[in-house]
Amino acid sequence: MTSTPLPSTGAVTGLKETLDFFGDPSFTQQRFEQYGDVFETRLLAQRIVFIRGEHAIGDLLSQGDALEGWWPESVRQLLGNRSLANRSGPAHRARRRVVGQLFSSSALERYTPSIKALIEEVTNDLLEAATATPLAERMRRFAFAVIASTVLGLDEANRDALFEDFEIWTRALFSIPVALPGTPFAKAMAARQRLLKRLKTVLVKRDQSSGGLDLLSDGLDEAGIPLDDDDLAEQLLLLLFAGYETTASSLSCLFRALLLNPEVANWLQADLAGGLPSPCLDATVLEVMRLTPPVGGFFRRSLRPVQLAGVDVPENSVIQVVLSPSHPVDATDLAAFRPQRHLDGSFEQTLLPFGGGQRVCLGKALAQLEIRLMAMGLLSRLKLELLPGQDLSLQLIPSPTPRSGLLVQAQAIH
Ligand code: HEM
Repeated sequence: MTSTPLPSTGAVTGLKETLDFFGDPSFTQQRFEQYGDVFETRLLAQRIVFIRGEHAIGDLLSQGDALEGWWPESVRQLLGNRSLANRSGPAHRARRRVVGQLFSSSALERYTPSIKALIEEVTNDLLEAATATPLAERMRRFAFAVIASTVLGLDEANRDALFEDFEIWTRALFSIPVALPGTPFAKAMAARQRLLKRLKTVLVKRDQSSGGLDLLSDGLDEAGIPLDDDDLAEQLLLLLFAGYETTASSLSCLFRALLLNPEVANWLQADLAGGLPSPCLDATVLEVMRLTPPVGGFFRRSLRPVQLAGVDVPENSVIQVVLSPSHPVDATDLAAFRPQRHLDGSFEQTLLPFGGGQRVCLGKALAQLEIRLMAMGLLSRLKLELLPGQDLSLQLIPSPTPRSGLLVQAQAIH
């Protein structure tokens, strides 16, 4: 097989690259255009290989054993050593098996009435609101409630306390991991301890009466030893990290796209009249994730040399997978929101908004269920209208969300 040496920006200290990385939203796109779909640069002390595109990402995901999960130090410490996100090989697989039980089809069936009740609450709040409602914020509350109440089975007081600490924890995710007193990182590490303590209390009380935590009983580690509650609590913290902003973002971006493209909304509405499953809804959600992927990227580290799209990547490289779209600006059709492309055979790329391979999103089926039920619930009962004059551009970090909060007014459909 022919191979190409790894193209490099030639950055030595990485200082200028780091400033550009944080200051210039087209940082990766510009470099991909210059160097191709696989290139390396330096962000301060870290040498990092960026990759994009079906070919390179496909090669990466199919060589799972040659790679391990990798996170920046701040994320690693906030998630903890036991978290499956920070483990590889048999220890990772064993925990995926255990946590995966929370997302089996029978577990999802168990959650459905509770998710529907939460959607009913959102619908009624929207109808009763005297002024415009920021839909993005409402979707965040919903996505958090699905994990905290529906999956973990927390009561309202515990859920609110968990939310407060979780917000403190989130603020330091991509900060400098020095726990000097008063820094966001130190506050987040303290919040982490409180979060774990609360999650352990919930684990002790688990039964079949609420949530799905009873499904975790009998979970074994890689040596066949039962997982203790310290270990399980870190896996639950990961679910909040992985499942909340991502799902909230896809919901907000879905409604934003439908409000901006009424002809697509009408097309979808006609299909939804036939109930779920709806191929048009699935295509619309995929199109939202193509243009505004909730997870813009993720990392790996190579344990041995690997070839990605024909480019040699050395052992011990940190690799950042870029999922954000980087189509050329003149490709007008690809820039357009056109869900029909996923049904008429005109779009041939494989999209991977949930990743793939050994670390494919564990909560994919839950996220898809939440999105389908929410779309059906809201669109079948409400006519939504955008409040004019708001800033609908997207803030991209941590996950895309409309800057104005997506202010809407709702009317009942009779
Ligand atoms: C639209 C919503 C979501 C999107 C787009 C999404 C996307 C992703 C992606 C791209 C990864 C792979 C990261 C990697 O390869 O390193 C991932 C991993 C993961 N996701 Fe999701 N996710 C979503 C919702 C959820 C939900 C609702 C949960 C659970 C409540 C969840 C739990 C996880 C977990 C635990 C992992 C780590 C898997 C591992 O490392 O083995 N995600 N997700």
